[in-house]
Amino acid sequence: VKKIKLGLLGGGTVGTGVIKVLQDNYHDIKEKIGCDIEVSKVLVRNVEKHRALSDMVTLTTNADDILEDKEIDIVVELLGGIHPALEYMLKAMNNGKHVVTANKDVVAQFGKDVFDAAEKNDVDFMFEASVGGGIPIITPLKQSLTANKITDLIGIVNGTTNYMLTKMAEQGMDYATALQRAQAKGYAEADPTADVEGLDAARKVAILSSIAFNTRISLDDVKVEGITKITPEDISYAKELGFAVKLLAVAKNTKDGIDVRVHPTFLPKSHPLASVRNVYNAVFIHGNAVGDTMFYGRGAGEKPTASAVLADIIDVARDMGKDRFGRIRCTCYEEKKLCPPDK
Ligand code: NDP
Ligand code: HSE
Repeated sequence: VKKIKLGLLGGGTVGTGVIKVLQDNYHDIKEKIGCDIEVSKVLVRNVEKHRALSDMVTLTTNADDILEDKEIDIVVELLGGIHPALEYMLKAMNNGKHVVTANKDVVAQFGKDVFDAAEKNDVDFMFEASVGGGIPIITPLKQSLTANKITDLIGIVNGTTNYMLTKMAEQGMDYATALQRAQAKGYAEADPTADVEGLDAARKVAILSSIAFNTRISLDDVKVEGITKITPEDISYAKELGFAVKLLAVAKNTKDGIDVRVHPTFLPKSHPLASVRNVYNAVFIHGNAVGDTMFYGRGAGEKPTASAVLADIIDVARDMGKDRFGRIRCTCYEEKKLCPPDK
């Protein structure tokens, strides 16, 4: 019986989350896919640090152990940063493997390279977890809202800064402590500069607006200001006046052109985004047919992000048994109709 094998590049916050959620929901996931599935190998830098995982998976420090392994069907990139994540994803696709990632840096800056590689090699490239952590947002934009002309997309898309601003406003916590807490919870990037300077949110809004407006929005098109200059005084003045300070990502498509930006904003307490607290994210989208829609949930963290990564994995795994017209070509349980080993 064929078993779908996953190779994880990265066994940190999200990688560990994927292993845990797959374990927690193993029987349901197996039934939904119609095949057995397992994480077979995990790439890390420091094997000793990840000893706890070694009972369940094979740990390696050599990416080729995964990228060149003919038995691995899906490579799940959870390293972060651009290099070597980009090169590993391209190599995986060139070796005929499907790729799932949570990496907004690569999707925002090298999207064309990875989409071209996926097309050339006839493999899937999926990135739901790259924006909004556990919130389904990429798939709804690509599929459910695709009939609309989308004019406005406004959101809180960085969990670290929203957590920090909430703690500073509600508990009077200082900036440095709030950042340390967000790091300890696994919300922040390995280098949190990208979070606090608004670059992480800029990457995410570039990805969302490219899909929403059906055009290429590069990182250079996004005006960016982070929260590094926000003081506790700003936050308490805002509070006194009935406002909350939020780091907003804004994308508008008007007859005068496209405007995409990230900056801290004073929001009246009555605004729906003002009540999005802690690690939660929310994205408001206006489409000319659907009207207003809003997506809300945990924007970072181990299991919420793993939820989005595994959704992509399950999607790819289900498709592996179908032909290009979506017809079921083979299943894993009917011995005589097994998928060929290369699929
Ligand atoms: P972590 O820093 O927790 O984990 C990264 C993992 O990758 C570690 O296991 C690390 O190994 C390994 N790694 C990094 N570089 C290399 C390398 N060159 N060679 C081998 N192993 C390497 O990151 P996260 O899990 O938090 O994030 C992973 C990805 O998911 C990032 O793209 C991030 O932006 C994205 N993401 C994260 C979310 C979150 O809540 N944390 C939410 C949504 C997306 P070692 O531990 O040995 O150093
Ligand atoms: N560092 C990111 C955040 C992780 O805080 O939102 C989720 O993409």
